[in-house]
Amino acid sequence: MKKMIKLAPSVLAADFANVSEGISIIEDAGAEWVHLDVMDGSFVPEITFGSQMVKAIRSRTDLPLDVHLMIEKPENHIDAFLAAGSDFITIHAEAVVHANRVIQMIKDGGAKAGVSIVPSTPVSALTELLPFVDLVLIMTVNPGYGGQKLIPECLDKVRTLNTLKKEKGLAFEISIDGGVNRSTIKACKEAGIDVFVAGSAFFGAEDPSAEAEYLKNC
Ligand code: DX5
Ligand code: ZN
Repeated sequence: MKKMIKLAPSVLAADFANVSEGISIIEDAGAEWVHLDVMDGSFVPEITFGSQMVKAIRSRTDLPLDVHLMIEKPENHIDAFLAAGSDFITIHAEAVVHANRVIQMIKDGGAKAGVSIVPSTPVSALTELLPFVDLVLIMTVNPGYGGQKLIPECLDKVRTLNTLKKEKGLAFEISIDGGVNRSTIKACKEAGIDVFVAGSAFFGAEDPSAEAEYLKNC
């Protein structure tokens, strides 16, 4: 049987003047999660939105909210994102010294905890965190913008994580973020992903539902 792979469309590529419609497009396409890219203008160059937006989207959909915090000092904002109704909160290993503590804060608050690494950070930076996380988000572009090209070397990290998962009997899910589209999805699946984020490929498609169907089932 083919493995069921989840799609998490990124609202970053939706029309910010009509986010509600973007959520409808995600729901109509049968996507599993909603990916929300929070950027602070410091960890990454752009600024997007914060917990108020997550709260507004929470009132609009029952789909799991996969909140990707591309922010410095995430520990100062975990309570707000928990209160906003996030299902998954993913922090960047590069943005925090006490990642273990922040992951614990997320889990104590009742959400699932994720950790992400940028392309220049090796999987070995996560070794001590893997037993504590529910999700590992591998960035396949340098975070900050949608519509970039996937860096194929990053997919080796997905293979490494799958090996570690087996060796250590761990249960975290593996997601990838950046540059996933019709020409890269097969390589991503071969590497062993559980979830993929798609921004421009999804919202830029003439028919996002058909695109979702293709990307998930190809
Ligand atoms: C990049 C973001 C991504 C982005 C993906 O910094 O984390 O989630 O929206 O966009 P695409 O799919 O267009 O590469
Ligand atoms: Zn993201």
